[in-house]
Amino acid sequence: MCGIVGYVGNGRALDVLLSGLKRLEYRGYDSAGYSLQMDDSLVVRKCIGRVKELEEMNPGDAINATTGIAHTRWATHGEPTTVNAHPHSDFSGRISLVHNGIIENYKSLRKKLVAQGISFESETDTEVLAKLVGSEAGKGKNLFDAVKDALVQVRGTYGIAVLSADQPSTLVAARYGSPLVVGIGDGENIVASDVAAIVAHTRNVIYLEEGEIVEITSGGISSNSSDPRMTRDRIQHVDWDLAEIEKDGFSHYMLKEINSQPESLRNAFRGRIDLVNGTSRLGGLGMSESDMRGVKRIVITACGTSWHSGLIGKYVIEKLARIPVDVEYASEFRYRDPVLEDGTVMFVISQSGETADTLAALRLAKKRGIRTLGIVNVVGSTIARETDSGVYIHAGPEIGVASTKAFTGQTMILSLIALAFGRAKGNLTREDGIELCRAIMEIPEKVETILGGCDSIMEIARQFTYASNFLYLGRGVNYPVALEGALKLKEISYIHAEGYPAAEMKHGPIALIDDMMPVTVIAVKDAAYEKVMSNIHEVKARRGRVLAIATEGDNEIRTVADWVLEIPPVTDILVPLLSVIPLQLLSYYVAVSRGCDVDKPRNLAKSVTVE
Ligand code: AGP
Repeated sequence: MCGIVGYVGNGRALDVLLSGLKRLEYRGYDSAGYSLQMDDSLVVRKCIGRVKELEEMNPGDAINATTGIAHTRWATHGEPTTVNAHPHSDFSGRISLVHNGIIENYKSLRKKLVAQGISFESETDTEVLAKLVGSEAGKGKNLFDAVKDALVQVRGTYGIAVLSADQPSTLVAARYGSPLVVGIGDGENIVASDVAAIVAHTRNVIYLEEGEIVEITSGGISSNSSDPRMTRDRIQHVDWDLAEIEKDGFSHYMLKEINSQPESLRNAFRGRIDLVNGTSRLGGLGMSESDMRGVKRIVITACGTSWHSGLIGKYVIEKLARIPVDVEYASEFRYRDPVLEDGTVMFVISQSGETADTLAALRLAKKRGIRTLGIVNVVGSTIARETDSGVYIHAGPEIGVASTKAFTGQTMILSLIALAFGRAKGNLTREDGIELCRAIMEIPEKVETILGGCDSIMEIARQFTYASNFLYLGRGVNYPVALEGALKLKEISYIHAEGYPAAEMKHGPIALIDDMMPVTVIAVKDAAYEKVMSNIHEVKARRGRVLAIATEGDNEIRTVADWVLEIPPVTDILVPLLSVIPLQLLSYYVAVSRGCDVDKPRNLAKSVTVE
C-alpha cells in the first residue's frame, strides 16, 4: 500500500519523483503529493486523485530542485482529501515526511504533542510522526537523529522518507514492516517502496533491513544497521527489463499479464523438470529427498488469490505425496495459537512478498521453530528474504492489481512441489512422474490455445454487463478455481460474486438462483464430471443461466449449458492452470464493458502492507 519515492542527486528531482510515482501507483491511488527542497525551504504540492493530477500542479521555481520526496496514497486513517494526502509537515513547515504503514499509538502521541502546543491539520497517523520528528529536531538534533529518536517512540509499521529544509541535499529513510529499497546511481540515489520506481535509473539496489534508518546524499548512504557502511556486498542487481513494466501495446496491464501466461508458466518450470527421473528439481527449497520423506504435515499460508493457489496445492500435494496439508488464511493463523508439531513445514505464498498478514504468519512459524519455505514472485522481497528457503515463480513484475499470472505461476510451482514430494516419498512411480512432467511441459501451449479464443469470451462477457450477482461452482481441484473466478470478477467489475463447491450449492446458495443469476460452472471431463452435470441440471431446473467451462469436444454439455467455453484436455490435477484462464478473461471483459478501471480497481491496492 502507498508508494514512496525520494530522490537526491544532480538531476531534476520532480521528473524522477513523478515518473516513479506513476510506476508505484498500483500500490495506492487515492491522492498524491510531493515536497521539493528549494534554496532553504520546502515546496509542497498535494492533490486528491491520481499522479496525473499532481503532474498538472505548478511547482514554481522548485521545478529545478534536485532533492525531493513523493507519495501516492491508499488511505488508512482519514478519507482521501488534500489535507490528509502526504507529505505531512512538522509544526515549522521545515520538515516533510511521507509514510507507508500504520502508526498504531498515534492517538496517545498526538495527545502528548497537542499538550506541547502543537496543532494538527489532518486526521492521519502520519502527521503525528512528522510532528514528532519536528519536535525532536527542535531539540537541536540533525535529521537522522531526529528521525531515529522519533521512531523509538512509535509502535506500528512504517516505510518513511523525510526531508528537511535545514539539511540540503539529504534524505533520511527508515523501514519497519513496510518495504524500502535504495537505488544506487551515479551521483544520484533514489529511495522507493519498490524497484519499479528505480529501474529506469539504475539496476543496482540495496534492500533496507527491518529497523534500518539511512541517510542518503548524492554521494552515498550511511546506516544505523549492524553493517553501518553501505558496502558493495549489499548491492543487488535487478535483472528486470523496463519493457516488463510497460503495457506493451495492451490496453491494460491485466490483459498483458493474462496473455503473458504461456511465457510466465514456461519460466516457472524452466530448468526444474527432470524428465529422466520423472521428478522436479527445486534447488531453492534446500530439501533433500530424505528431508522430504521426513515431512509429516504441510501448512500453507497466504492471502487472497495466493490463498486460492494454496488450496489447489492442498489437493495436488495430498494426492501425489499423501502428506496432510492445511491451508490457512495468514490473517487468521497469526492470531490463533496454532498447533505446529515436529515434522511440519510451512509454505508461505505471496506474489509481492510484502503482504503484512502473510509476513506475520511466517514470523510466528519461525518463532515456533517451523521450517518456512517461500513461493514468491518479487525477488528480494521481505518474505523471500525471511523464509528459510524457497522458490521464485519467475512470473516477472505483475502490475495489474488483480493477480493473474502470479496465480498460475504459484499453482505451477505447487504442482512441481507435489511431484518432487510424491517421487521422494515413493507414492508416484517414475513412469507416472515422467507422464506428469510431459503434461506440465504442454501447459503453455494449451494456455495459448485458450487465449486464441478470447473473442468468444469477450462476446459472452458483454451479455453480463448489467449482471449484479454471479455464482461460480467447481468441485475438487476446481473448487478453488471457482473461488478465484469469483474474486477476479468482484475485484475489477464490482459485481457481487460467490464461489462454492458445486455440491454445496444445494445447502443454501440455490435459493438465489433465478433467470437473472448467471452461474459459471467448471465442468471438465474429470472424475467429478457426472456429479457436476447433475449440479448443472439443478441450476437449470430453477431457470438459472449456465456458463460452462468444458473440455474441448464435449457435446453433451452443450445440450444443457447456455454458453460453453472450451479448454484443451489435461490430466486432472493440472486443470486449474487452464480452467482459470477463461475466468480471468471473462472478468476482464465484463469489467471493461462496465467501464471500470481494470488495473486500479476502487479501494484496492496491489501490495497489502497493512493488516
Ligand atoms: C489478487 O487479485 C488480490 N488483489 C489479492 O487477493 C492478493 O492476492 C492478496 O492481497 C495477496 O497478495 P500477495 O500474493 O502479494 O501476498
